[in-house]
Amino acid sequence: MMDATRTLIDAAIAAAAHAYAPYSKFRVGAALRMADGEIVTGANVENASYGLSLCAETVAIAKVANAGRLSDVVEVAVTALASDTPVYPCGRCRQILNEAAALGGRDFDVHCANGDGSEVATYRLSALLPNAFGPESL
Ligand code: THU
Repeated sequence: MMDATRTLIDAAIAAAAHAYAPYSKFRVGAALRMADGEIVTGANVENASYGLSLCAETVAIAKVANAGRLSDVVEVAVTALASDTPVYPCGRCRQILNEAAALGGRDFDVHCANGDGSEVATYRLSALLPNAFGPESL
């Protein structure tokens, strides 16, 4: 694995510490590498009205979107602190990640890591979300 990917996974692990997950106690971290090398992170934000909870990937994507950088995401890592096995983005997050991939005109790697980063499964986003519905579908 490339050093840069290890750094991205470590950033996702660090981000998970900032999760607000008092209900599930499942603390998820996501890290996005941008085209200029910067790493932007997110963690899940739960709510007393459980169904309103925001996933880590969605929080990270919202941050880059608000900075006008949705098209600059080039690589993604996801983890959850308590998980012994790699954590895969939920279906909604795959769709939300796809918007960034489509805007940037690129497919990117999604590194799905366990809680300490010792197990990592890497997939192209297009493999996690085949035949995606995106901006070009409208
Ligand atoms: N969660 C994420 O943050 N990302 C995912 O891709 C899957 C699920 C969060 C939502 C909720 O706060 C907790 O994990 C348990 O479902």
